[in-house]
Amino acid sequence: MTDPRGNLSIVESEEHVPFDIKRAYWIYDVPGGEERGGHAFKVQDEFIIALSGSFDVVLNDGTGEQRYHMNRAYFGLYVPHMTWRRIDNFSTNSVVYVLSSEKYDPEDYIEDFEEFINSKR
Ligand code: TYD
Repeated sequence: MTDPRGNLSIVESEEHVPFDIKRAYWIYDVPGGEERGGHAFKVQDEFIIALSGSFDVVLNDGTGEQRYHMNRAYFGLYVPHMTWRRIDNFSTNSVVYVLSSEKYDPEDYIEDFEEFINSKR
């Protein structure tokens, strides 16, 4: 909703993201040159928004890498489960806002890339 008083963006479960939102978390104060992520989730779907600043989300569905530059607070990137993802190229004061289809579960992480590729096969 663009407005001379300031803009407003909305996200509703099942309406603007294709899942029921069970959790939100955010990443901020990332030092220059750092990288986050570097894993896949077995069942968790995510929706990633650049609330402030910019960063790159790098996705691999098992067939190759795709880099998405995120720099608008009104865009989101849907990351389905079983997608390897990392986030890098953080600008100063960037805020990564992540909506998730699941509550936090350390068992849902695949941290080993070889294991991920083998699971995709
Ligand atoms: P992690 O998902 O590994 O962060 P990133 O993918 O950005 O590198 O999470 C970092 C730490 O935070 C790890 O110890 C797990 C913890 N954590 C929670 O306790 N709850 C959560 O919802 C998330 C996302 C992370």
